[in-house]
Amino acid sequence: MSSRDVQIAPSVLPADFSRLGEECVALEKAGVDRIQWDVMDGVFVPNLTFGPDVIKACRHHVEVPFEAHLMVVNPDDLAHQYVDAGCEILIVHAEACTHLHRTLANIRELGASPAVALNPATPAAAIAHVMDLVDLVLVMTVNPGFGGQAYIETMEPKITEVAKMIEFTGRDIDLEVDGGIGPATVAGAAAAGADVLVAGSALYRDPDGLEHAVSEIRALAEAARS
Ligand code: DX5
Repeated sequence: MSSRDVQIAPSVLPADFSRLGEECVALEKAGVDRIQWDVMDGVFVPNLTFGPDVIKACRHHVEVPFEAHLMVVNPDDLAHQYVDAGCEILIVHAEACTHLHRTLANIRELGASPAVALNPATPAAAIAHVMDLVDLVLVMTVNPGFGGQAYIETMEPKITEVAKMIEFTGRDIDLEVDGGIGPATVAGAAAAGADVLVAGSALYRDPDGLEHAVSEIRALAEAARS
């Protein structure tokens, strides 16, 4: 089991897009560890979201790190724009990269933390030869494109497989999960090996507010790992 601290990385996909700066402030006040921007190009996934300027406009409102989840067909062309916008971590999809090894190395060259995401159908073996290049692996627990989808429990063995791959490297690599994470599902993902939890809908639908939602998910994840 990973000895890494549990981290909460909210997705701002369900946030009020007319007040994103204020929404980032509210998330930071609620105790999140970083903020995830779900960048979608309408081609890799059937939805269109945040350009770099939107993220740049929010950057100075908060101190927490920004991570860009690049659900795009051309991450090589866009990476520098999201680094310039203030994203410290860039997550590319293995499925979108013809030359994944080069793409990850280029992100490191840009001064950001390289990270790779796996769609539900993509085996962990797809990243076996880039584990020396990444600081984070994201195992998708939904098919990307939309928030509010059901958690795919059959991803748990893959989470554990990636956790073992990370352990074998001896490197300090985050294991992140994204999709359908909430009070009813976080324990399974954490017990399987996840230490960074992306949640969107579960945070915003909590009747007791963001701070309660963040602390509840964190507590449930920590309990599942102990
Ligand atoms: C899918 C998105 C969502 C989002 C979180 O492309 O990446 O997984 O971040 O959505 P919820 O937490 O609402 O499932």
